[in-house]
Amino acid sequence: MDLQAAIGRRRDGGPSTAEDFQNLAHGAADGSTPDYQLSAWLMAAFLNPLTPSETAELTLAMADSGERLDLSGLPKPWVDKHSTGGVGDKTSLVVLPMLAACGLTVVKMSGRGLGITGGTIDKLSSVPGFRTDLSPEELKAQAKSIGIALTGQTPRLAPADKALYALRDATGTVESIPLIASSILSKKIAGGAEVIVLDVKCGSGAFMRDLESARALKQMLEDIGGHAGLTVRAFISDMDQPLGRCAGNALEVKEAIRVLKGETGRFRELCVHCVRTVLEACGLPDRAVEVLEGGSALAKAKEWFAAQGGDLTVFESEDWGRAAVVREVRAAQAGWVERVDARRIGELVVNLGGGRKRKEDAIDPAVGCEVLVEVGDQVRAGDAVLRVHSASVFEDGEDCVIFSAEPVVRRDVILES
Ligand code: URA
Repeated sequence: MDLQAAIGRRRDGGPSTAEDFQNLAHGAADGSTPDYQLSAWLMAAFLNPLTPSETAELTLAMADSGERLDLSGLPKPWVDKHSTGGVGDKTSLVVLPMLAACGLTVVKMSGRGLGITGGTIDKLSSVPGFRTDLSPEELKAQAKSIGIALTGQTPRLAPADKALYALRDATGTVESIPLIASSILSKKIAGGAEVIVLDVKCGSGAFMRDLESARALKQMLEDIGGHAGLTVRAFISDMDQPLGRCAGNALEVKEAIRVLKGETGRFRELCVHCVRTVLEACGLPDRAVEVLEGGSALAKAKEWFAAQGGDLTVFESEDWGRAAVVREVRAAQAGWVERVDARRIGELVVNLGGGRKRKEDAIDPAVGCEVLVEVGDQVRAGDAVLRVHSASVFEDGEDCVIFSAEPVVRRDVILES
């Protein structure tokens, strides 16, 4: 499909026509538009952002570039969650089994890593055997039997997003509110859920660096979701420091399992908030802590991993997916932790091989970074603050943590609910 005229219209500031969006979505989905034209359109849309009504049209065109999953016959409510992307964000690995343990049906389509932000699919792919390519029929059957099913972007559901997402990652066109909103919501619409909770990340490790732009993305997600007939709740959470202790694929799966087994901290707090928000949106009582503490979320996670072919021994021991070299970065001075720069940690993980620089790059699932301190912690000179897991000797990471001689106030994980 030739996109030349549509590219010109976007380059000149729009408006784009409904036909432009349909041609773009179909050409991306069936491969008939070359990558160079799609990339040119994306850059034009990055520089001349779509209006809210154009974003809604693009979202629907992308959602309809493939099938829409029909969840009828499955127990209600049908729910889903999505984050706008961050460093160390393994929330889905804990929240999905918590929601299913509460009796909800969760069918989710997740992405690969994008820029410095990790992707749920890359994290789960670090688990030996775990399948992330379920067909719509398999998704539905699995959700019917255990309440939870997850797949990567498939050629049948919102295939336009799969193609555009990979190109945005490689063309510097990720950080656009209309492109993020249409990417997320097209997948949600195609996935069939009726109630969707969105975690809008804000800070150096997120696409939205400040509260103002996070609020604008939240508003756009709520408006377009509502326009598409979905119940959407969104909240803003901190991504100025990485979420939890680990960034890197296998390391994050191990951390998620520890939280399902009872580990506490900011990451668990976010998971509980997310589940409470879904339950509240569905008009159901709050059981978030109960399913974690009673072990039913952990049991559901095991059922889920087993159903998708994942090796269940990952729940018994952390002796898998280990990197060859582990090095500690130490505090150069005594004081308080002022910053753990999520962006720097994200870049470090990508440079270690835990993320992609080009869309065809392979991921090393074992590499990553353990963050041993949080903003506000007191440290002595020489205390270990990071543990860098790499495939070979790798001297980097010294500038990820910044210290202050004065006490520093801790940051809340939920910035606006
Ligand atoms: N998550 C998505 O699914 N798409 C984006 O564009 C950003 C985050």
